[in-house]
Amino acid sequence: MLRILKYFKPFIPQILFLLLCYLVTAALNLIWPYLNGTVLYDQILAKDKSFADSFGLTSDSFITGLAFVVIAMILTKLITQIISIIQGIISATIVPKVVADMKSVIFESMGQLSLSFFNNSRTGSLMTRVLSDADRVTDFFTSILPYSVTNIFTIISTCIIMFSMNIKLSVAALCLLPILSFISIKLMPNLFHLFGKRHRTERNLNACINDNITGARVVKAFGQEKREMKAFDNYNSAICDAEIEVVNFHNRFTAMYSFVEEVASLAVWAVGAYLVLYTSNMKMGVLITFSSYVTQLKEPLNFLSRALRTWTDSKNSAERMFEIIDAKPDILEKENPIKFNMEKGSIELKNLTFGYDPNIPVLKNMNLQIEGGKMLGIVGRSGAGKSTLVSLISRLYDPQDGEILIDGVNIKNISFNDLRRHISMVSQETYIFMGTVAENIAYAKPEASKAEIIRAARLASAHDFICKFPDGYDTVIGSGGKSLSGGERQRLSIARAILADPKILILDEATASVDTETEKAIQKSLNYLIKDRTTLSIAHRLSTLRNADKLIVIDNGKIIEQGTHPELVKRHGTYFKLVELQTKALAMKGIE
Ligand SMILES: Nc1ncnc2c1ncn2[C@@H]1O[C@H](COP(=O)(O)OP(=O)(O)OP(=O)(O)O)[C@@H](O)[C@H]1O
Ligand SMILES: [Mg+2]
Repeated sequence: MLRILKYFKPFIPQILFLLLCYLVTAALNLIWPYLNGTVLYDQILAKDKSFADSFGLTSDSFITGLAFVVIAMILTKLITQIISIIQGIISATIVPKVVADMKSVIFESMGQLSLSFFNNSRTGSLMTRVLSDADRVTDFFTSILPYSVTNIFTIISTCIIMFSMNIKLSVAALCLLPILSFISIKLMPNLFHLFGKRHRTERNLNACINDNITGARVVKAFGQEKREMKAFDNYNSAICDAEIEVVNFHNRFTAMYSFVEEVASLAVWAVGAYLVLYTSNMKMGVLITFSSYVTQLKEPLNFLSRALRTWTDSKNSAERMFEIIDAKPDILEKENPIKFNMEKGSIELKNLTFGYDPNIPVLKNMNLQIEGGKMLGIVGRSGAGKSTLVSLISRLYDPQDGEILIDGVNIKNISFNDLRRHISMVSQETYIFMGTVAENIAYAKPEASKAEIIRAARLASAHDFICKFPDGYDTVIGSGGKSLSGGERQRLSIARAILADPKILILDEATASVDTETEKAIQKSLNYLIKDRTTLSIAHRLSTLRNADKLIVIDNGKIIEQGTHPELVKRHGTYFKLVELQTKALAMKGIE
């Protein structure tokens, strides 16, 4: 919780001013019962002589005194109100800024985490953390902490005044407090647990909503709206139940506090009445003043109970927030990376072993050499580890064993920026960001000119379909914009990769969703593009890899064959069988 305070640092002057306001309010709150009880009853209404003398009032001008007291009482309340309005305005400007800052910090930390973090976390949980945890964390600091100064000040000073007025009455009023504090502190862990439970239900609901939005097409296609609605209802009622549990807990807390407060008031009246009746040193006015003080204690006490609950809630959220902020990325950039400028783009894998789960290797002890500027075709059945291999080369994951050298340098010694500047990947899963077509193509090179963007789009055979859009390159696509077909999306990502002008170009099923004719056109551009750059191309349609300088066949995490197309065909191995099967299949369809 102390760490959270850091986010309030830019607002120290405002916060100091707020504290001043709180102190003034607290002082005014203390004056009120005194004016209301002792001055009004015992001095003015009782026409106290010594009081009249000290203010120079004659015995018949008590009415003037009364007017003054009433005006003073009104002024006290008025000033308190004005101060509270000013406080409201100031805190209203601080809170949203602090919350926004925190959200940025969480989002930034999340951005630095490795891909494996996102594979293992649930989207719903991450969204809840960015969206609601930051709000909840600030709750304690904005709705509790500032007021605690006033309230604690009020409690302590009220107690001192009460004790100085009458010790017996004070003991009667306060004897239950220690028990109350003890029970409150004992109950806090339960409450913490309830808040955690509420978070988990919210996370599930968020995940469900997210699934239904991104997977809307599948839900509709399989007619599963009803089932999804049911799942949603379950998650929704789980939140409802969790919320009810929290509220019930709050209510029990509040009831316990109210009970103690009522008992204290009654005890004061009982003891006070006894003292008034049977002893001579107790005046009615003192009892009224005293009971006003006891009543005045109610609010700070209720506040304390709220403070305990909000503290628990904020702490619960803060723990989750810092879990992300403190999470260490698995893939760390070297502290002093060497200055690297990719010259040739040659790649070498040495004894490479990797598995998403370290116990289940996907790639086993792999060795491979790719000369700079050449094209490597990667073949293998689905799930063989082809995409995994190329993600290791752009260091989205680190191998468990072995190393990857680019131009003879271990990629672990190269800064992320230097490494990724030179590598572009058209991945199997294309993603279109919210924005215009031009912005999407220029994703890796935002400063690109319009002419460059159009050139890249032409090379990727995307220019023609983009021109048919209503606003051409300025058409908004992605979430909330125009939808694209699978092939169109692929061509945009190829254009994106081309524009980045990398030394190493990775094409993972880059043309799998386009028709044969478009594929041929793209292939032609690519043939022109792959000059001077190392190209790794993965394809199930083997005809696209025919021109590769070298082909490898991966199976079971190992390279089982390598060579050029003619060499591998001659070998009559796995590659040959695959080519034969595809040619037959295509011949049956009458395509080739
Ligand atoms: N993020 C991940 N976490 C855990 N396992 C994964 C992950 N991605 C892939 N795998 C597993 O690793 C293996 C290799 O996957 P990979 O994506 O490299 O296959 P591929 O050869 O590209 O297949 P395809 O031709 O279908 O694209 C598969 O068994 C897959 O289930
Ligand atoms: Mg793949």
